[in-house]
Amino acid sequence: MLFRPVDPESHLLDIPGLPAPMLEAYLNRTGFYAEKLANGGVDRSTLSGKTILNLFFEPSTRTRTSFEMAAYRLGANIVNWDPDGSAARKGESFTDIIQSLAALRPDGIIIRHAKYNTPHMVAQIVDCPVINAGDSWRAHPTQALADAYTILQRKGRIGGLTVAICGDVAQSRVAACNIALLTRLGATVNLIAPPNFLPPTLPHQNVAVFTDMDEGIRNADVIMMLHLQKDRLDMSAFTDTVGYHHAYGLTGERLRRCKGDVIVLHPGPLNRGLEIADDVADDPHHSLILQQAANTLPTRMAVLDILLNEKGQ
Ligand code: CP
Repeated sequence: MLFRPVDPESHLLDIPGLPAPMLEAYLNRTGFYAEKLANGGVDRSTLSGKTILNLFFEPSTRTRTSFEMAAYRLGANIVNWDPDGSAARKGESFTDIIQSLAALRPDGIIIRHAKYNTPHMVAQIVDCPVINAGDSWRAHPTQALADAYTILQRKGRIGGLTVAICGDVAQSRVAACNIALLTRLGATVNLIAPPNFLPPTLPHQNVAVFTDMDEGIRNADVIMMLHLQKDRLDMSAFTDTVGYHHAYGLTGERLRRCKGDVIVLHPGPLNRGLEIADDVADDPHHSLILQQAANTLPTRMAVLDILLNEKGQ
């Protein structure tokens, strides 16, 4: 099989490999689509005639649906491939499945996979743009872009802010991607987690580590809570959920000790009462969790528009 070099401008695979002009283009186009969605005027013929293949090898509520809605709003067709009803169940290799699907000539492939770097490998063998919808613990670039856009909307900037990211950092692709993106945009990131939830290596620049949550959030402008990955953790070995909530849950009492204009984000899925208390998740002043979810739509419209219309191979 021929593995070709990957042009980072033709795909969206991760944040570290994303050229600066592309990053700027994605954020600007997200603003354009956010405005169009709010005030009307989305051009439904933007992607007419394009067919996008959604390959989700892992479950998803938000990402898959918002990519589908983004495609529909821009006039593209989207095909949802179902791994459970496929030849993967008959033992066909992953690369043979991808090659067979790519032979149908989709205009773009959106892929989520549990294995490290799979979207990059797919980009090496297909002839259309590949968008990473989450791989392993490593990358979820469209989520990070939507999160950054949400911060920009409220704060007007990212440079100079302190963003606390709290929870199971080691296993979180959202955390990995947000650390890369937010530090690149000039923020300081405070990582807050028990020692066993911290990654073995960390970028040195503009990242501080805290095991005490109150210390880590005290000066934060943004607190991003992470989903406790019940699907990846050995929950039989993690019995002290009450203790976890006490030490690392974002409660109303904790939030009141933070900056008055702090904002709270959570990429979902939410474990209410575990990493985040109900009243914080629903707080009308501090919580931007639903705005964050809404912003994934213009973000994914921007990514599809740029990659399929302007950068398609
Ligand atoms: N935020 C996120 O990736 O959610 P889903 O797993 O529901 O797509």
